[in-house]
Amino acid sequence: MDMANEYNSSEMAIEERIRNLLTEMTLEEKTGQLNQVQWNGWEAFDALADDVRAGRVGSVINLVDRAAVDALQTIARQESRQGIPLLIGRDVIHGFHTVMPLPLAQASSWNPELVRDCARISAQEAAVTGVNWTFAPMIDVSRDPRWGRVAESFGEDPYLTSVLGAAMIDGYQTSDPASPDTILACAKHFAGYGASEGGRDYNSTNIPPNEMRNVHLPPFKAAVEAGVATFMTSFGDIDGVPASGNDWLLTDVLREEWSFDGMVVSDWESITQLCTHGMCEDEVDAALVAAQAGVDMDMVGGLYSAHLPHLCESGEISMDRIDQLVGNILRTKIRAGLIDGDRLDQHTEEPARLTALAVARQAATESCVLLRNEKDTLPLASDQISSLAVIGPMANEPAEQMGTWVFDGKSERSVTPLDAITSVLEGQAEVDFEPGLETTRSHDKTLFTRAVEAAASCDVAVLFIGEEAILSGEAHCRADITLPGAQADLVRAIRQTGKPVIGVIMAGRPLALGDVIEEFDALVYAWHGGSMSGPALADLLFGRAVPSGKLPVTFPKVSGQVPIYYGHKNTGRPPEADKVIHIDDIEKGAPQTSLGMTSFLLDAGYEPLFPFGFGLSYTQFAYSDLHIDRHEMTEKEMAIVTATVINTGTRTASEITQLYIRDRVARITRPVRELKAFRRQELAPGESVQVEFQLSVNELAYYHRDGSFQAEPGDFDIWVGGDSRADLHTSLRLLKA
Ligand code: NOJ
Repeated sequence: MDMANEYNSSEMAIEERIRNLLTEMTLEEKTGQLNQVQWNGWEAFDALADDVRAGRVGSVINLVDRAAVDALQTIARQESRQGIPLLIGRDVIHGFHTVMPLPLAQASSWNPELVRDCARISAQEAAVTGVNWTFAPMIDVSRDPRWGRVAESFGEDPYLTSVLGAAMIDGYQTSDPASPDTILACAKHFAGYGASEGGRDYNSTNIPPNEMRNVHLPPFKAAVEAGVATFMTSFGDIDGVPASGNDWLLTDVLREEWSFDGMVVSDWESITQLCTHGMCEDEVDAALVAAQAGVDMDMVGGLYSAHLPHLCESGEISMDRIDQLVGNILRTKIRAGLIDGDRLDQHTEEPARLTALAVARQAATESCVLLRNEKDTLPLASDQISSLAVIGPMANEPAEQMGTWVFDGKSERSVTPLDAITSVLEGQAEVDFEPGLETTRSHDKTLFTRAVEAAASCDVAVLFIGEEAILSGEAHCRADITLPGAQADLVRAIRQTGKPVIGVIMAGRPLALGDVIEEFDALVYAWHGGSMSGPALADLLFGRAVPSGKLPVTFPKVSGQVPIYYGHKNTGRPPEADKVIHIDDIEKGAPQTSLGMTSFLLDAGYEPLFPFGFGLSYTQFAYSDLHIDRHEMTEKEMAIVTATVINTGTRTASEITQLYIRDRVARITRPVRELKAFRRQELAPGESVQVEFQLSVNELAYYHRDGSFQAEPGDFDIWVGGDSRADLHTSLRLLKA
């Protein structure tokens, strides 16, 4: 008998259906729902099938075999007592078969619709295999590019991360998460994982309450507001309380303050790791602590199934608590259309390959950031070039351009820069390809000679360098974030030829380029752009598309400047340009107090190489007429800020206009700038537009020590412009109530 039918009435209110199911379930069946197991291949199918039949499994991770999914879901629905289907989880992080640019690259587009479209395609492709749950978006605010997982993030800013995180959730889930071509999203890693000490993955995160509230938590709150179905805990130890045992985060904040009623999954064995952290005595203790703190599902660890039944029987955890955890999972399954059974078996067709590749190409194009373009080296006029040297270890690497987290990515869908350039120049110009180095990490310079000869004999050299996919992502962190291997020397060697040198950096993190930046006539930061990185780059290099990306992270000059981000505090002794002294200019025997006594580094100053929000175009945009409709307002009012943006150049292009504020005086000091709004707009040459932003008390407020979100009366600076150094300024005074 199909037991699911008994609960099939969509008339029945969700909570009542949950109660009914709970009444039917044994304790083992309940804890079975809390158990996520790993797919271990067909060899282990029978054992898994037995567990599913007996109600010992709530979810399977890393299963992308449609036949196996169908077989297991059929057993779950028809042979388990309650007929509750499985959540099938997979890391669909930036694409599935078609690989979209890295999340950090997508963030450079500042285009929420595009981020949503990328997730939509990924969901449609993944759902065909029976996957119904992804572990994305990662919305950890990431201010340390040494940390490999910066690649998976939307960068350093809480607001940009919030907006793009919500867009990605919408793309995966849509407004109807029960529809068969959607997958459930997961806001991760709750919380503060991005602050891993020293950029070392899995490390401690010592985050003061003010920073937790104002920097790390806002994207997660935005995810709840966007309707995210699930949350994942972080691997981190947050001020002594590891996330998977952190009742403050999981219960007080997530459930009580934010009223989240979806489900929380641990990270991979992170409940077990409560012992390794030194928080729990043994696995029994860990299961108890995590369950009491508010983790609903144990990813792979198996501790809930093993220990919660006897902990409940001995009274150490109440049945009510177990029911809450199970209820959160059942609610999620019902909302996903799983318990009705409607969504199963229905989605069988991937989106058309061309549609997927078109979205990937647009995303790869909008993800690129033009960092340098001396004397308008770019775009190249394809009809005026007779030969072009394509150089570098990233020029023709279909798998490397896909980046990290591409379990299901099909590298045969990748079109490399070499492929794309060759096809643009076919019949017009010679393309001479020389990798120069075997990999981005190689130190062996044997191949330099041929690369230099190629550059010397061509009109222009384009270098595709950076980091292979393996150098960023989970557990792939670096201390020295300069170009790895002998790539900097390769750049210098090519420079020596006297030919124009165009750099294209394909990497999973911001690299510290202070020592090589001057060697490039033009530099495009392409990140790992996914399947269509090649065509996107060819479009940009030859001016068929115009760069429009802006940095979602600050670029340091040298590794030692990290962490460096635009939204820092002013300090009591902020640096001043005329007081910065370089280490080489200090006189012998200079007295202790002669060096300026402000906050800077003797060898690196205080400025980044490129600021947050920065990105050039092939056209120019000018900002003027910043206007605010009132200079004073009460908490109930709204100020309208307008500015004129004009395209003063000769190309149609998109500009991302950004609005920043500063709360000049607050009892808890506020950052020197905070992004509060942005708009992306395409303008034809000579065209201007008046961009309008609304500022309410919400944009002026921040989280106080007691957790309240309030604005303090007083003065606020406002800037509008094309990056975080925008200088068009006005101000607003918030009046006392
Ligand atoms: C560990 C990672 O931290 C997490 O982001 C990922 O979703 C899980 N493994 C599942 O693969």
